[in-house]
Amino acid sequence: MEIRFPTFDIAGASPHWGDNVEACTVINAGGIIPPPIERYLIKVMRLAKKELDPVADADLLDDMAMFNKQEGQHFKLHAEYLDMLAANGYPRIKEYEAAFEADLDEFLATKDLDWNLGYGEGFESSGPALASGWLDGPIQELCGDHGSEIMRLWMWHLAEEFEHRSVVHDVLHRLYGDDRAFELRTTVGEFARGHYGDHAAKAAAYLFEVDRESMTEDEVAASTEREMAAWVALGTIGGDNFGWIHQRDYDPAKVPEPAGYSAVLAQYA
Ligand SMILES: [Fe+2]
Ligand SMILES: [Fe+2]
Repeated sequence: MEIRFPTFDIAGASPHWGDNVEACTVINAGGIIPPPIERYLIKVMRLAKKELDPVADADLLDDMAMFNKQEGQHFKLHAEYLDMLAANGYPRIKEYEAAFEADLDEFLATKDLDWNLGYGEGFESSGPALASGWLDGPIQELCGDHGSEIMRLWMWHLAEEFEHRSVVHDVLHRLYGDDRAFELRTTVGEFARGHYGDHAAKAAAYLFEVDRESMTEDEVAASTEREMAAWVALGTIGGDNFGWIHQRDYDPAKVPEPAGYSAVLAQYA
């Protein structure tokens, strides 16, 4: 693992950065997830650090420090992405980000560390599940992307998510043992996916509402059809991989590297 400092011309990008506007919009709605959840994860890892032994757990602590640095970079650049959306016709997108963040703040204040780590693993396990979709072409193809800065941002992010995919998993197992870690990821982790997915779906409804204000009835119908196709295609791309966390011996370290992984990271070495 290493820390990288890529730059993307996010402010100069368009919200409709690929030929398939509806697929881009669904992805843009998902953009409200990283900044709040990554700020949350950094706080959760700082709490977990206090439970670990500086000597016996030195390697894991090093990984956690690198994890936090990478997530810090991710949320910084993803905040620019939300700024770009807000400045280009979607000013209320920040309200959807804030609503999600308020929930996470509440979880941090009211739930125990094991619960919050389980929530974090629900998100982190989605990285390896979706990595091939992002890094090997299917999502790029679905969006009709031609090398946009927004797609490059997501691809760099997903490559680093793949790189640090084991950290939250390993902390869970180290602190609570295999059985409790399994229980947490299949209950709280599964809840997390639905929870942040619901927030993204609400953001998507807002983005589509703005786009459709200026459309005729026929255009709205066609756009809605393309939107449904985008949701189905995106669900299919992750496919069975989302079931990995329900396997008792799930180990993100054993997930095969996506074909495009090294080439993406090499751009930012
Ligand atoms: Fe991240
Ligand atoms: Fe991550």
